[in-house]
Amino acid sequence: MDLTPVSPASPSRVDALVERVGRDAPRGLVPVDIFADQDIFDAEMDRIFTRGWIFVAFESEIPDKGDFVQRKIGRDAVIVTRGSRGEINVLANFCRHRGSRVCNTDQGNASHFRCPYHGWVFKNNGDWIGAPDKSIAYGKIDQKEWGLLKAPKVESFLGMIFACLDAEGPTLAEYLGGAAWMVRGIMDLHPDGMAVIAPPDRYHVRADWKTGAENFAGDIYHVSVAHNSVSLVDLAPSFAGLNDLGFNYIFENGHGFLGHDFDKMFGPDGHLWYYDAGMKARFDLSRLDDTLRETVEKYPPVVGTIFPNLSFIRYFGEPSPGKPPAVYTSWRQWQPAGPGKMELWSWQMKWTFQTEEEAAASYAAGQYGFGSAGMFEQDDTVVWEGAPDAARSAWARKEKAAFNIQMGLEGVGQQKRDMDWTGPGEVWRPGPGEPHARNFYAAWARMMQGASQ
Ligand code: FES
Ligand code: FE
Repeated sequence: MDLTPVSPASPSRVDALVERVGRDAPRGLVPVDIFADQDIFDAEMDRIFTRGWIFVAFESEIPDKGDFVQRKIGRDAVIVTRGSRGEINVLANFCRHRGSRVCNTDQGNASHFRCPYHGWVFKNNGDWIGAPDKSIAYGKIDQKEWGLLKAPKVESFLGMIFACLDAEGPTLAEYLGGAAWMVRGIMDLHPDGMAVIAPPDRYHVRADWKTGAENFAGDIYHVSVAHNSVSLVDLAPSFAGLNDLGFNYIFENGHGFLGHDFDKMFGPDGHLWYYDAGMKARFDLSRLDDTLRETVEKYPPVVGTIFPNLSFIRYFGEPSPGKPPAVYTSWRQWQPAGPGKMELWSWQMKWTFQTEEEAAASYAAGQYGFGSAGMFEQDDTVVWEGAPDAARSAWARKEKAAFNIQMGLEGVGQQKRDMDWTGPGEVWRPGPGEPHARNFYAAWARMMQGASQ
C-alpha cells in the first residue's frame, strides 16, 4: 500500500509534477493533478505569466493619446495606456504607496491616475508626478523610484499588443515563431487590418485556463460530439466527416492551429474561409507569401492558440434566424482566475474596411455562436468543468491518473506528420490527432522548468 501523502504543499511536489508532465506529454499523457492545484497554479503565475509574452489589448482599443484599458497578466491587473507621445505602456495597477488600485474602470482616457487612498498621482506612462502636500510630506523624494511598475517589454504585431515582464528572453517575433506567419494569414488580408467591434465579453468558467487554450490549439475530435446538438437542430451544418477533414498545424513554444481541408470540403475553387466571393474580392492576398496564400485558400486555420492563453476562431453563422450567414473572427483569452477557474474574455473583430452593418452582422453571428450564452460556447465550457473535478479527486491522485493525448502517436490512429510541408512549423494530417495537446503541455513543462522558450 502506498502511504505517501497525496498533496503535501511543497515546491518539490510541484517540480516532480512538472517533470512528470515534461516526460509524459510527448508520449501522450497529462497528469490530472495539474488542472486544479494551488501550488501548480502559483507556479504557473510565477514561471509562465511573468516570463512569456502575454496578450494585453488591441491597438484599436486605445487609438488616441491618453486612451487606456484595464487588463490582466495572469492574475495581475494591469493598465494598458497610450501615452502622450503615442507610445504604449503596460503598468501594474497598484499604487506604490500602499497598494490601492489606481485605475478603477475598465477603459477611458486620462492623462494621469490618482490613487483613491492618499492621492499619489501617476502620469499615464507610470511616472510618479505628485502627492497631496508633497513638499511637507515628501520633500525631495526621488520621484523616479516610485512610479507604477512598468512592463519592460511591450510589442505590437498586426495591431495586437503583447507584454513580457521578463527583461531577458526572446523578442515577440522569436516567441511567436511560425505562429506569427499564421496570424499574418488571418489578420493581414487587407492593409488596414482588423479592429475590435466592442470591448471584450467577460465571464467566469469553472474550468482551468489550460483546457480552453489546449482545445483551441487544435481539437477537432470534440466537434461532432460536444457540438452535435447544434447541427441536429439545423443551426449549423453537419459535422459528419470533420474528423477526417480537420488537421493540425503546430509551432514552436506550444502554439497550434486547427486547419480544415477546404480543398476537400468545397473543391479547388480558392475558397477563403467561409467568405463569399464579394468579400474575397475586397482582400489583397498578394500580401501573403505563396505558401501562406495557398494555406488560407485551401487549408485555413479555423481556431488556434498562441501559448499560453490567447486563442482565435473564424467561423460563420446567421446573425439572426433567416438572415444571410456572416463570417466572424474573434480572439479570446483564457484568464487564469484560480486553480481550475478562469475568466473567459472574448473580443469580436471586424475588417476595418467593413460597413457598420456588416460589422454588426459579424458581431451578432459571433455572439450567437461563441458569446457567453453562445450555442457552441456552452457546449465547450460545460464539458471543460470535468478536468478540475478529476484533479480534485483523491482517487485520481491515488491512482496517479493521467489524461490521454495519444491520438496520432506512432501506432495510434491515422494521423502522420506531413514531411512535404514547406511552411513553418509542422503539419500533421489528416485528423483526428492530438499533436497540438502534446506540443502545448511540452511547452508548458519547459517553461515551468525555467526555460524562457
Ligand atoms: Fe496610494 Fe496611499 S495607497 S496613495
Ligand atoms: Fe468546441
